Amino acid sequence: MKNAIPTPALLVDLPAMERNINRMAEHFAARPCKLRPHFKAHKTPEIARRQLAAGSCIGLTCATVAEAEVVSLLTDDVLVANEIVDIDQCERLARLAVRVKVRVAVDSQAGVSRVAEAAVVNGVTIGMLVDLDVGQHRCGVSPGAEALALARLVDAASGVALHGVMGYGGHLQPVRNRGERESRTREAMIPLIATAELLRSSGLPCEVVSGGGTGTYDIDGDLPGITEVQAGSYVLMDSDYGELDLPFEQALSVLGTVVSRKGERCVTDCGHKTMTMDHGLPLVKGLPGASVAALNDEHAIVTVPLDCELVVGDRLELLPSHIDPTINLHDAIFAMDGDSLVSVWPIVARGYADERAALD
Ligand SMILES: Cc1ncc(COP(=O)(O)O)c(C=O)c1O
Repeated sequence: MKNAIPTPALLVDLPAMERNINRMAEHFAARPCKLRPHFKAHKTPEIARRQLAAGSCIGLTCATVAEAEVVSLLTDDVLVANEIVDIDQCERLARLAVRVKVRVAVDSQAGVSRVAEAAVVNGVTIGMLVDLDVGQHRCGVSPGAEALALARLVDAASGVALHGVMGYGGHLQPVRNRGERESRTREAMIPLIATAELLRSSGLPCEVVSGGGTGTYDIDGDLPGITEVQAGSYVLMDSDYGELDLPFEQALSVLGTVVSRKGERCVTDCGHKTMTMDHGLPLVKGLPGASVAALNDEHAIVTVPLDCELVVGDRLELLPSHIDPTINLHDAIFAMDGDSLVSVWPIVARGYADERAALD
């Protein structure tokens, strides 16, 4: 029963999540491009297990080595779609490669040599994807000559093997207008695909062309040459992605208890220590006319219609605006089917405890 769950608590609407998983799996089922769901969205093995079981997945994507260690118990094909340069993390990545196929993104000479050194010491080969900046201006080298030069370096190094290229258009994911999202995504991904062809015509291997996210999964996934899509948020969604015309449902909420009610002002016990505000304030679930006015540390201040029947002690759910950092704030997810609690899933890969373990 929802009313018995201690608040604040993170809830997943299980049937909605299953529908999201199945819709995405169905989308990729008949396409040459495959899905590599991004684990960073939820960090929860039980969710990843269901994504893999639904099919159309060729492995999982991670953002950190700690996530990769967790998912290596679920799949034997792991992509760390991020630059790994810390010596201890390179060592952990190499140890992981003893058991499963590991690929990692790289955008520097130092990145190649640090990963390569750890791989040689451990007697393994780590796959590398040259990370291209497709317009987000975060990590990545420029498409074309710069990417080719780095690819040659990877190809020549011991302990690593060139597997391909990747490019994540993070700036394109939230573009509201579908037509604009489509045209800008095509424009951004063409240099990625062209660089893959440049590598091949230069005699280098390039079997993987990886990219895409929830906002552009069906655009990237249909571009000839893209081999896998790294979408993550689709599985649970958030209110920011809810602004787009995507076929996925809001499946994640933060459950709070009403601790104060004065007229239109209703206060619950879930503030921004329970959900982030980097993509805006959350929405109120299932209460027409209600909106969140502010989040304090421990409080959500919600404006409700005067005739709304909520009283102190009642429960209220909010839909977070950004799932990844919100989930990282919690220890567990309560999996619900309507009002019934089905299971409690530990968010195994949350936090940075594993990184700090290197100091022990
Ligand atoms: C490299 C990379 N790939 C894929 C994704 C997945 O994006 P989304 O959660 O929007 O599906 C992200 C998200 O930030 C990312 O950083």
